[in-house]
Amino acid sequence: MPLDTNTAPLLNLRGIGKTYGRTEALSDVDLHVNQNEVLGLLGDNGAGKSTLIKILSGVVDRTTGDIEADGTPTDIRNRQDSAKLGIETIYQDIALVGPMSIWRNMYLARELCNRFGFLRRREMRDTTVDILRKGVEITGVDDPEAEVGGLSGGQMQAVAIARAVHFRSKILLLDEPTSALSVRETENVLKYMVDLREEGVSSVFVTHNLYHAFQVCDRFVVMAHGRKIADVTKADTTIEELTKLIVAH
Ligand SMILES: Nc1ncnc2c1ncn2[C@@H]1O[C@H](COP(=O)(O)OP(=O)(O)OP(=O)(O)O)[C@@H](O)[C@H]1O
Ligand SMILES: [Mg+2]
Repeated sequence: MPLDTNTAPLLNLRGIGKTYGRTEALSDVDLHVNQNEVLGLLGDNGAGKSTLIKILSGVVDRTTGDIEADGTPTDIRNRQDSAKLGIETIYQDIALVGPMSIWRNMYLARELCNRFGFLRRREMRDTTVDILRKGVEITGVDDPEAEVGGLSGGQMQAVAIARAVHFRSKILLLDEPTSALSVRETENVLKYMVDLREEGVSSVFVTHNLYHAFQVCDRFVVMAHGRKIADVTKADTTIEELTKLIVAH
């Protein structure tokens, strides 16, 4: 897909601040997410990365700042707002509900019902089989009735990613999605991000692993103590430089 540099960023955040009592988790952060990009969100523990992700996904209310989507002022105050903007968040553990089947998870909060309010189980199950087979290939998963709690970390990630793809998300937020994954599972998640970029889905990838970040990201935003301290394209930086930036603050 050709990169259209004339279009406004998918998301543009200006002056984002968040305080928790006396803690200033974020102050005056500007952040944009372009079309067709994987953005690495880096920084040491407590830098504010997760807070920023939570503000974008609508589970944390920002204290200050403005948000534009495709050049138009918008607001994100809850999960419905972010879903409407095509934002899907993938966490290591809480993206899916363990004791529920894969198909229930796939349609979580988007259940299809008939006019009497009953779940259209067969349709949701059949579509889930389709998604599992066709969408992203998920090794070792083909039964939509299988409980998500019995899947490996990587398989859960894959189901969450498949859901994001199926519901045509525009932006995937991944907050340390690979911290508990095997080498192979991690490679899969990294590959999904690159594949999705080709399909026009941008990702914001939070990680402490700069090698993973460098493998897939087009641009890096480095946070320290709630502030943005760098915003550089991959072409303009190196792993060494990013490491120094993160460690020095
Ligand atoms: N619910 C909360 N209540 C109070 N303080 C919070 C809350 N969530 C985050 N903070 C504080 O906000 C700051 C930023 O935290 P955040 O979780 O965003 O950091 P992070 O960059 O994701 O760190 P890590 O790499 O360790 O996940 C920290 O000082 C943290 O203690
Ligand atoms: Mg975090």
